[in-house]
Amino acid sequence: KDIPVITVDGPSGSGKGTLAQRLAQHLEWHYLDSGAMYRVLALAADKHSIAPNDSQQLEALAQNLDVRFISGLGGMPARVFLEDVEVGDSIRREECGNAASKIAALAEVRRALLMRQRAFRKTPGLVTDGRDMGTVVFPEAALKIFLTASPYERARRRYKQLKEKGIGANLKNLEKEIAERDRRDCERNIAPLKPADDAIILDSTNLAIKDVFQQVLPWLSGKN
Ligand code: C5P
Repeated sequence: KDIPVITVDGPSGSGKGTLAQRLAQHLEWHYLDSGAMYRVLALAADKHSIAPNDSQQLEALAQNLDVRFISGLGGMPARVFLEDVEVGDSIRREECGNAASKIAALAEVRRALLMRQRAFRKTPGLVTDGRDMGTVVFPEAALKIFLTASPYERARRRYKQLKEKGIGANLKNLEKEIAERDRRDCERNIAPLKPADDAIILDSTNLAIKDVFQQVLPWLSGKN
């Protein structure tokens, strides 16, 4: 409990993952991408033919999920393994994010992943990103950041990312999918996406990631 935690929550495409990784790299702390856990669980459910509403089987799967993260160097995203198979590319797909947000609404799933997420808190500290890191998983975090951006800007960023990877996408469809996922994440009963009461809210719509990082740096003093 003495080990410091910094949480970065927000909707998809807000830049929270990149910011959290940069902070972890800067502080030389551990990093947890909690969304990746939900994504890996969605992938595993698909692999084992478990229906997205079968909460009992999903709970058992979440408890025994054989997932490993190997932290990348230089701010690179962690490599992710499910049952010893590297799944970094598969979990980044739009379908996997959407499937993850469906199973993430189940209380049994969230309960099973809670302890696993808390286990990432190791010395010298942890930076983590997700939807409920500051509200539910680490309510005592030293610094809580809630990063937002307009839905259009988030869709545009996602579109650019996909294009860079050579994956074709339609901006209008992306906007629609992002809005749908936001709605599911914000309207669910358990651990909905919302800023913690003591979170600092930062809108990144008109900011490059380096500017977001510069803005956050002074907030670290006294927190690490
Ligand atoms: O952040 P990312 O887009 O990878 O998350 C995928 C989905 O997992 C989200 O849409 C959300 O439904 C779920 N999630 C969650 N709680 C977290 C992180 C992710 O419910 N802490």
